[in-house]
Amino acid sequence: MPQTILVLDFGSQYTQVIARRIREANVYSRVIPYNTSLNEIKKFKPNGIVLSGGPASVLSQGSPKPNIGIFNLGVPVLGICYGLQLMAKMLGGNVEKSTRREYGRGNLDIVRKGILFKNLPKELTVWNSHGDGLTNLPPGFRAVAKTENSNFAAIEEPKRKFYGLQFHPEVEHSQKGSEIIRNFLFGVCGCSGDWDMDDFVNVAIEQIRAQVGSQNVILGLSGGVDSSVAAALIHKAIGTQLTCIFVDNGLLRLNEREEVKKLFRDHIPGKLKVSLAGPLFLKRLKQVTNPERKRKIIGKTFIEVFDKEVKSLGRVDYLAQGTLYPDVIESVPIGGNPAAMIKSHHNVGGLPKKMKLKLLEPLRELFKDEVRDLGRSLGLPENVLMRHPFPGPGLGVRVVGDITQNRLRVLKEADAIFIEELKKANWYFKLWQAFCVFLPVRSVGVMGDERTYENVISLRAVTSSDAMTADWAKLPDGLLRKVSNRIINEVKGANRVVYDISSKPPSTIEWE
Ligand code: XMP
Repeated sequence: MPQTILVLDFGSQYTQVIARRIREANVYSRVIPYNTSLNEIKKFKPNGIVLSGGPASVLSQGSPKPNIGIFNLGVPVLGICYGLQLMAKMLGGNVEKSTRREYGRGNLDIVRKGILFKNLPKELTVWNSHGDGLTNLPPGFRAVAKTENSNFAAIEEPKRKFYGLQFHPEVEHSQKGSEIIRNFLFGVCGCSGDWDMDDFVNVAIEQIRAQVGSQNVILGLSGGVDSSVAAALIHKAIGTQLTCIFVDNGLLRLNEREEVKKLFRDHIPGKLKVSLAGPLFLKRLKQVTNPERKRKIIGKTFIEVFDKEVKSLGRVDYLAQGTLYPDVIESVPIGGNPAAMIKSHHNVGGLPKKMKLKLLEPLRELFKDEVRDLGRSLGLPENVLMRHPFPGPGLGVRVVGDITQNRLRVLKEADAIFIEELKKANWYFKLWQAFCVFLPVRSVGVMGDERTYENVISLRAVTSSDAMTADWAKLPDGLLRKVSNRIINEVKGANRVVYDISSKPPSTIEWE
């Protein structure tokens, strides 16, 4: 086990961000439920424990509390927000409802030299979010910093190595927050900061083996980053107990099926089952133009095809998914985590319920860029790791209106040209997403001496950090001209190319 910092989760939407900040400092961190037993906690041999924030009030009856024994392990503890109030209350301090709640930006004034603020400015802007306040310190504690509303914005008990922060050092708006966390890790917990993703691979492999034992696992491979990394990791852990299923729904990009097969051949030499279901999907989508109906048909057919493939495999116990942390927080309140439902996400739910399989989600604690790092550790190629997101319904929502074989062909060919030129011009990796959309509109053109009457392709290229908002990319004229010329000259069935200059909101990234 590497040097480990345990983060006890009291339900804050930032809990995983704390763990991520710790991992960024090259120290391994695990989030575990707040009520994990003392014995379990001891098994990790933690170098430090962080008590996360949370939405509850320590003043309410039945508010979540850890086993009080964590304060007798001789392990440093850092309480953040609710975690600070909890620690203070459990150790004999007093917490009261504040007359003034503190939300958002606050000014932190450091009043005493403390190890957490070593080498930091005396004043910092920090991010608060709390309604209760500490009014009396527990015995042995002293105040280190204050804000306008609280004399105990940072507290410490250096002898037993207990520290508390009323604000959230893990969020980006808190100045020097990462340094404060690093001071805890290196100055207080004595961590050495030599952990990296290679170590994560080893720990994850052990965990997967322990969870799965000799049972069988299936994984739905999409060819995207998350499922590819999950497949590579699980394959490394359990080899042929894993079978990956790739459903070709006929709505994939040009050569995508071959690329997935090649990825497997070269990097994940395990069992791959390819299901050729394009004709079934297209039959069911015939003359369907409503975008939501398309999504429903594609989703339902996928489950059906996948289910059939699984049944043909004999005994299967686990469904593996490349669910990431942001998928989790956007989808369900986990384990009482009220990091409220922000949006429902296609990746989570659906399949496992219907198939009555146990879930294996080894990437569940990671953020996207961490998954890419993990993929690098596993030796996956950059073109897979840095690939743009691709929607589950695929080209089904990029052929506007009725989907036909011919329309799909036109779209695939045009899209491949756009992506190839973006890569050549070094624009691909600067974009969140780029793709072509087939518009069921015909317009007149002239080619040589002939009049043409063909369809329109729209180019879409956006910058974004999370797809919640996006801006159209200011691609250079020369690049756009080249893409347009190539598509019109090389793709039979397209005689006009337009560039989509809509931002999100009010438009969306996809056209349907
Ligand atoms: P929109 O079009 O809503 O897209 O701005 C935001 C992000 O989500 C992707 N997207 C989907 N992904 N199933 C998916 O798996 C879908 O039905 C779906 N619709 C949109 C889109 O590509 C973008 O990254």
